[in-house]
Amino acid sequence: MTPSPHETLLSVITAKTARVGIIGLGYVGLPLAVTVAKRGFPVTGFDIDPAKILRLKAGQSYIEAVTDDDLGGVAGWTGDFSQLAAMDVIVICVPTPLTEHRDPDLSYVRATAEEIARHLSPATLVVLESTTYPGTTVEVVAPALEGSGLQLGKDIFVGFSPEREDPGNAHFRTATIPKVVAGDGPEAGRLVEAFYGAVVDRIVPVSSTQVAEAVKITENIFRAVNIALVNELKVIFDAMGIDVWEVIDAAATKPFGFMPFYPGPGLGGHCIPIDPFYLTWKARQFELTTRFIELAGEINTNMPHHVVARLREVLDRQLGIGLSRARVLIVGLAYKKNVSDVRESPSVRIMTLLQGAGAQVEFYDPHVAEIPRMREYPQLLGKRSLAISAIRAEDFDAILILTDHDAVDYASLVAMDLPVIDTRNAIARRNLPMTRVTKA
Ligand SMILES: NC(=O)c1ccc[n+]([C@@H]2O[C@H](COP(=O)([O-])OP(=O)(O)OC[C@H]3O[C@@H](n4cnc5c(N)ncnc54)[C@H](O)[C@@H]3O)[C@@H](O)[C@H]2O)c1
Repeated sequence: MTPSPHETLLSVITAKTARVGIIGLGYVGLPLAVTVAKRGFPVTGFDIDPAKILRLKAGQSYIEAVTDDDLGGVAGWTGDFSQLAAMDVIVICVPTPLTEHRDPDLSYVRATAEEIARHLSPATLVVLESTTYPGTTVEVVAPALEGSGLQLGKDIFVGFSPEREDPGNAHFRTATIPKVVAGDGPEAGRLVEAFYGAVVDRIVPVSSTQVAEAVKITENIFRAVNIALVNELKVIFDAMGIDVWEVIDAAATKPFGFMPFYPGPGLGGHCIPIDPFYLTWKARQFELTTRFIELAGEINTNMPHHVVARLREVLDRQLGIGLSRARVLIVGLAYKKNVSDVRESPSVRIMTLLQGAGAQVEFYDPHVAEIPRMREYPQLLGKRSLAISAIRAEDFDAILILTDHDAVDYASLVAMDLPVIDTRNAIARRNLPMTRVTKA
């Protein structure tokens, strides 16, 4: 008797001979491709960006978490999507941003699912990893795949498994982060579990793709709301002359029921400022509102304005000048420490607010040589980081610390004897002189 597509797939996955295609080779897809290859599967990476494919073919990584050597394990890099026909497992890692009106932009996911459908062959498992609202796998991806004429749950199988990358975190790698997995139906579930069970150290199966989608959104909302909470506390405690960082560090000694989150200049990155609004949009369909998410968004969005207001005060009090005459050095452009990613970075927002007020602004970031193309900030394209050796105290009126990269020499910044606005508690944490430092 000929084996069913499900049996065929399960046997190639178990034998690790399943050909795996990873679509979207960004911060999520590239580390995943490398990890799957290291676990012994033949992997092909797909991307629509020809420049990325060329670089990868030349053996050059563009993501800190992936070394050039790591790339060697991957069988091929391609922009030719007809090669999808040969894949047994296809994983989708394309962007899920917001539209200008802050609604989910699923155009990348849709386009990818339709492209897969054009090349799909029987006995294929398709897994979505992109962060999205509960229901996307079943309501958007599955119908697009059925456009191939193949039957869902019989010829082809779908699942969802959210990515949990933490860029810059040296303690966890893709393979060692527990992975939530779900299939649409029990047979798809078995395939998804077999595949990811062979790729990562620990899988966490859940009952449906909707639950798996909700898990990821919950994790990100949890962070957005807690960061908003400490940002609000920062402003309140500051008015009372209380240092919020000291409060949090002391509270964190409680061995149960408290988890430290730290304030900052605002939310950044591809996930936390964006993903919660996927749920807001979906909740409307159920005539529900997401008040915590909206409130957190409001507080976090206001943080860059708070930082600029503090800088304005310091310049006025200490130097008697307004922002329009100020020369400001921003330290740290990336949205979080020890990474080069500037997407949604509050530093960029603050830079444009300062420029809008007439200030002259330069930046220093050991991880960001120059500002890449950003949809909202075309005018900043190509602006370069100062070299540390080119930073002279006489060229600036104030220093604004927005990202606390480990590679920054904070002692030499403090030694310049300029007013410093520190949004990350970077100076106090290093026990450096605080005479001219204002926390914000
Ligand atoms: N970056 C993170 O830390 C992180 C963490 C967890 C989840 N996520 C989620 O993972 C998804 C991907 O995020 P990312 O940070 O890797 O994005 P990214 O922008 O770094 O990479 C996406 C890649 O997809 C490619 N792409 C776009 N459209 C395509 C298409 N139609 N076909 C093939 N390739 C296409 C792009 O060229 C790019 O290389 C998003 O849903 C994001 O929310 C990201």
